[in-house]
Amino acid sequence: MKLQYLADRLSALQKEALYREVSSFEPVSATHVKQRGRKFLMMASNDYLGLTHHPSVRKAAINAAEKYGTGSSGSRLTSGSHILFSQLEQDLAEFKQTESSLVFSTGYMANVGTISAIADKDDYIISDELNHASIIDGCHLSRARCFVYPHKNTAEVEKILKTLHTNRTVLIVTDSVFSMDGDIAPLEELAYLADKYNALLMVDDAHATGILGNGYGSAEHFQLHGKIDIQLGTLSKALASVGGFVAGKKILTDYLVNKARSFIFSTALTPADIAAAKEALHLISADNSYVKKLWQNTLYMKQQLAKYRIETDSATPIIPIIVHENDTALSAAQNLYEQGIIISAIRPPTVAPNESRLRLTVTAAHTVNDLDFAAKQIKSALK
Ligand SMILES: Cc1ncc(COP(=O)(O)O)c(C=O)c1O
Repeated sequence: MKLQYLADRLSALQKEALYREVSSFEPVSATHVKQRGRKFLMMASNDYLGLTHHPSVRKAAINAAEKYGTGSSGSRLTSGSHILFSQLEQDLAEFKQTESSLVFSTGYMANVGTISAIADKDDYIISDELNHASIIDGCHLSRARCFVYPHKNTAEVEKILKTLHTNRTVLIVTDSVFSMDGDIAPLEELAYLADKYNALLMVDDAHATGILGNGYGSAEHFQLHGKIDIQLGTLSKALASVGGFVAGKKILTDYLVNKARSFIFSTALTPADIAAAKEALHLISADNSYVKKLWQNTLYMKQQLAKYRIETDSATPIIPIIVHENDTALSAAQNLYEQGIIISAIRPPTVAPNESRLRLTVTAAHTVNDLDFAAKQIKSALK
């Protein structure tokens, strides 16, 4: 059989407890889903502010679909650049305090398209070892020489910068909040180094937009406005929709329109996606209670876990519980599922070998009862 080698590779994954399957859910609220008629508490969602089910966000999406139809009918450069895009892009630029912003169809595409457009084979990229897969893929696609530095180690970044006597582009790229660890990058030091060595600094705020800096993201959190050349974000997490964006100088977004292949050669978001993100952005800017509630819940959950002596080390609502072995992570997640809670078991290649973990996320929509229940069940699943 021509595809036998695929079956062999899959059975190798199964043997190492690394096999993955897609599981379908029916969301019933921002915190609960149904599967085969049973209700589950969702502790694995990136809907940090619980806005996917907010009445005005839903209404915005429904109104846009009713008024403008469902699909977008083309790429942004052909027939797909709906008038709602320019409003959203203006709002995002204002929100991020940049001159301009550009929306892509996913955060993954924003990273891959941006990095491969701004660096080429004669350029250099300096990238944190725990950066998201979409950054890593962007680096590969660019064909630039890539230096991967130990996690958050700015001394290593400087060592690399010192060796690069070049008039070519040097790009330092990092997640601001690391998606599997929930820790925060040393952005002040990186901005200092980027300035000192005339390198570009790109920061992926996928898990910081709506979370850090009163929701405005890492530039606001660290007061680094104007010092991050490329700010990347997603519309698909706290902004309750789908899509990605880049915020920065107008010359950057003009360049990406011309050179980012994932922008040029893919169909645009639908009117409903754009309208939902725009409304979520409006809610966060107008009312800081969503972000406040998120941090209140995060603190509460960490206190509950500490009460049960469950070790965690995280600065954000992403809370990893490292159990090391793949099958321990899988069986703990399965155990929690049987108790009615969905928490992801994260295994290689998403994390390094022997670093498998439960990764739970707290949202503003969780109740104290939800968090109490989750902490108690995690304790018994880890016994
Ligand atoms: C740090 C980081 N960057 C980028 C992305 C990609 O964003 P999207 O899901 O919108 O494609 C993710 C999503 O998982 C992420 O965690």
